[in-house]
Amino acid sequence: MASLVRRCMMPYGCCLAALLALAALASPGRLGAAAAAEGSGVKWHVVSVSSLLPSAACTATAAAPNSSALRVVHRHGPCSPLRSRGGPPSHAEIMGRDQERLHAMHRRVPKGANVTLQARWGKPLGTSNYYISVGLGTPARDLSVEFDTGSSQSWVQCKPCADCYEQHDPLFDPSKSATYSTVSCAAKECREFGSQNCSSGNNCRYEVSYADKSRTTGTLARDTLRLTPATTVRGFMFGCGHNDAGVFGEVDGLFGLGRGKASLSSQAAVVYGDAGFSYCLPSSSSTVGYLTFGGAAAAPANAQFTAMVSGQDDGSWYYLNLTGIKVGGKAIKAPSAAFATASGTIIDSGTAFSRLPPRAYAALRSAFRRAMAKHGYRRAPASPPFDTCYDLSGHEVVRVPSVVLVFADRTAVALDPSGVLYAWDEASQAACLAFAPNTDETYLGVLGNVQQRTLAVVYDVGNRRVGFGAKGCA
Ligand SMILES: *[C@@H]1O[C@H](CO)[C@@H](O)[C@H](O)[C@H]1NC(C)=O
Ligand SMILES: *[C@@H]1O[C@H](CO)[C@@H](O)[C@H](O)[C@H]1NC(C)=O
Ligand SMILES: *[C@@H]1O[C@H](CO)[C@@H](O)[C@H](O)[C@H]1NC(C)=O
Ligand SMILES: *[C@@H]1O[C@H](CO)[C@@H](O)[C@H](O)[C@H]1NC(C)=O
Repeated sequence: MASLVRRCMMPYGCCLAALLALAALASPGRLGAAAAAEGSGVKWHVVSVSSLLPSAACTATAAAPNSSALRVVHRHGPCSPLRSRGGPPSHAEIMGRDQERLHAMHRRVPKGANVTLQARWGKPLGTSNYYISVGLGTPARDLSVEFDTGSSQSWVQCKPCADCYEQHDPLFDPSKSATYSTVSCAAKECREFGSQNCSSGNNCRYEVSYADKSRTTGTLARDTLRLTPATTVRGFMFGCGHNDAGVFGEVDGLFGLGRGKASLSSQAAVVYGDAGFSYCLPSSSSTVGYLTFGGAAAAPANAQFTAMVSGQDDGSWYYLNLTGIKVGGKAIKAPSAAFATASGTIIDSGTAFSRLPPRAYAALRSAFRRAMAKHGYRRAPASPPFDTCYDLSGHEVVRVPSVVLVFADRTAVALDPSGVLYAWDEASQAACLAFAPNTDETYLGVLGNVQQRTLAVVYDVGNRRVGFGAKGCA
């Protein structure tokens, strides 16, 4: 397969991802920070326990910084337009699913313009990942697509669908779009992004397989993509999926934001002059974040940058050099070597919970347990893959120890409390340390989307660095 991309890269890790997604979906939980202080010198955050639990109302106003912004919301949440269906998928359902030729793009967007969409958490749509709403085709059909920095291809489910999963919106129908075209087998981008199964004269086929055994196959195509009412990418290349299965929830498709040439960010770079982008992932489905293209310009004043480093999959992933963690203001007892896995560490919007090498995780867990014990929080049974859980019943507020990620260039990123303690079961009032260990020291470390919640995350691709700013969204 020419275009094998992995969405969840740990060997067997996809099961874990599916389990985690499942856990997340089975009982939506959220941890809202009531009184989070900023900075890495802070030792505790006092958080109301009720804010850990799901909210029924969408409290998002016009959260997007600008009219040309994309909203990011949780798919299963009250802000989600996709919410209508009878509740989130069952555990079992989730388990079954957990530049060359780019010249065709219309250059009517001035370089440096802000193009911002609303970003939402996908929980109401059966995924723990995040999605945006875009318009595809002419006239534009509104579609809700997951955005994934861990892969570089984009696709939507298309009519006719031989074997598709159930999605939120009606299927995209290429025959109803005046601007749709297929990529031919003879085209250069077919050799580059198509599957090696083309006889000339035919439409180019594509195939994407993810590490969690999710997959999509269909026709490589182009159509007009409307990101915001004012910004359109003509000739956007994507896969028109006719045969799709996996852990996608009910999203209508998936857009890759990886470093590969086919990704939305790379294609948009031709229009915006810069493959950079930034986002803020909201902490719950009742709030809205954003995804902005055109990159580095949008960095908040408080952003701290760390260098992108090279790694095994240099084609698609964004590797960072994580070297330590501080809990309650003190470094955990793990040398930087404990974080330096053979496979490196990536930042990924398409993995929910961060995965650490076992030794680093064990040190984090000990430090976290000690900090929680100081305040007498009762432990609750483990809830795999989480092994450090607390019974918060009877507490109105919880003191969450601060957790700060430290990178090689000494950049320190303080996580929001919603990225530290994760609660999903209203009945049990339990919350767990939202990290999981890899089963082998050599496996890829991942900075997942839960840990990125509420941070403004800036992918300054041109300068090979990633920035983090506190309080980018709620
Ligand atoms: C939106 O962005 C434009 C420039 O891209 C700027 O002039 C305008 O002030 C922004 N609007 C808001 C509400 O921030
Ligand atoms: C983009 O928007 C941000 C704030 O939303 C603003 O600070 C920045 O200057 C804008 N950049 C451009 C090029 O308009
Ligand atoms: C080639 O494509 C056809 C559909 O056009 C498909 O049925 C067949 O399985 C593909 N073969 C390989 C080896 O991928
Ligand atoms: C990470 O940083 C350490 C210390 O500066 C350095 O020795 C190591 O080579 C870096 N790793 C990568 C993958 O760049």
